[in-house]
Amino acid sequence: MSNNDKPLVVVLMGSESDWKTMERVHQTLGDFDVPHTCRVLSAHRTPGLLADYVRETEENGAEVFIAGAGLAAALPGAVAALTTRPVLGVPIQTGALNGHDALLAMAQMPPGIPVGTLAIGTPGATNAALLAIAILGNKYTEYADKLQAYRMKQADKIAATVLPCS
Ligand code: RP5
Repeated sequence: MSNNDKPLVVVLMGSESDWKTMERVHQTLGDFDVPHTCRVLSAHRTPGLLADYVRETEENGAEVFIAGAGLAAALPGAVAALTTRPVLGVPIQTGALNGHDALLAMAQMPPGIPVGTLAIGTPGATNAALLAIAILGNKYTEYADKLQAYRMKQADKIAATVLPCS
């Protein structure tokens, strides 16, 4: 589900090629009915548009930003430079270094401008959405309640697992 009027979460990615990973963010936010919007904008290809968009969406009520990028992965750091809202980074699994370059670019931000960095690829995309929901849950009890129910469902599944040697 996407609500473009007043997104609480803004999902950015550096290229359309990142969508197959970042789609997991969209799906997970949708599962929790979090109003969000997704857009391709690049730190190095469209720096002016990126700055305008981050400022505009923050003014319109965005509370968390999620940014996915591959290779040198400047996007999450650039977003973090433009807003004091929490910024979560998803390293895209691509290129010669398979996402390790993007992981380090996000995790190794100099002190002062943090990027909350998740795992490489689709696990990181899902967890970025869940972490955004946890952040929203501090203010909106509906998201905290939904997250609790999601955790209980996971626990029930594990507890009910029967193996041939159980
Ligand atoms: C980064 O470069 C993007 O985030 C993408 O992961 C990577 C490759 O971009 P394309 O060449 O596929 O547009 O900026």
